[in-house]
Amino acid sequence: MKVFETKKRLKNQINSLKNQNISIGFVPTMGALHQGHLALIKASLQDNAQTIVSIFVNPTQFNNQDDLIKYPRTIAKDLQLLKSLSNDIIVYHPDANDFYEGKIESQHFDFDGLELVMEGKQRPGHFDGVGTVVKKLFEIIQPDRAYFGEKDFQQLQIIRKLVEKEQMPIQIVPVPIFREKDGLAMSSRNTRLLPEHRGIAPIINETLREAKALFKNNSIEDVKQYVYRKMDENPLLEMEYFEIADEKTLKPAKEKISGNKYRGFIVVYAGDVRLIDNIAL
Ligand code: PAJ
Repeated sequence: MKVFETKKRLKNQINSLKNQNISIGFVPTMGALHQGHLALIKASLQDNAQTIVSIFVNPTQFNNQDDLIKYPRTIAKDLQLLKSLSNDIIVYHPDANDFYEGKIESQHFDFDGLELVMEGKQRPGHFDGVGTVVKKLFEIIQPDRAYFGEKDFQQLQIIRKLVEKEQMPIQIVPVPIFREKDGLAMSSRNTRLLPEHRGIAPIINETLREAKALFKNNSIEDVKQYVYRKMDENPLLEMEYFEIADEKTLKPAKEKISGNKYRGFIVVYAGDVRLIDNIAL
């Protein structure tokens, strides 16, 4: 398995792949790899002759310094996990200064409003940081396909918008949310949950599934109220938001319009750990 830490050395490798017409699948991650990440990597290994995984805790997308400092970093374990999948994977594990050439800052993007709601509203600058790092990674790696999890559905839609606006010839492949047996969406942050919070956390997905069932015969407002009430009843969980939005525009929906697809989006704090999940309604 090859691991690259500088842009220059990785670029040489990419040039050689491109010269040989080898198809490249790319999976960007921030490491602390789990089964959810592996689902993306497995999909890439199936579709492409060469898979490249980046592991980089991108400083520009953290609006909260504490979250950045506490973000789990487990590179040795990550590399072992990748090796157990395939010896052929190329890993890009850059140093922030080399990657950003000393200027660790975001470019500002207009994603046609996708960046103004939910995660964009709660985490100012977050999607500028994501857009900046992913655009740079795409420019360096020039993948044929790139894999993104539906766990971060808003991010997935924003990346689709990014390649459309920047006219990058990259196919964005969505991958369904990978869950623990009890329904909790896998996340690198789950390792930071205290036992009592880990115990109660499956309620988040359970409530989303109840919302899905209720959505059939109830108004959007009633479904939202149900979810807020259910979370309110639980002293160990603190809801940041629950929103029902159009899948394409991500605009909050007031009433159902037939033919449109909707999703429920939730963010809940369990102690100081921020958990995110969503469901197709
Ligand atoms: P990270 O949180 O490490 O996630 C990397 C990719 O794995 C994302 O596309 C995310 O949606 C996907 N993923 C995480 N948990 C998942 C799960 N349980 N099921 C399915 N997919 C899952 O998202 C980022 O990193 C960063 O913002 C990044 C895109 C790498 C830019 O820095």
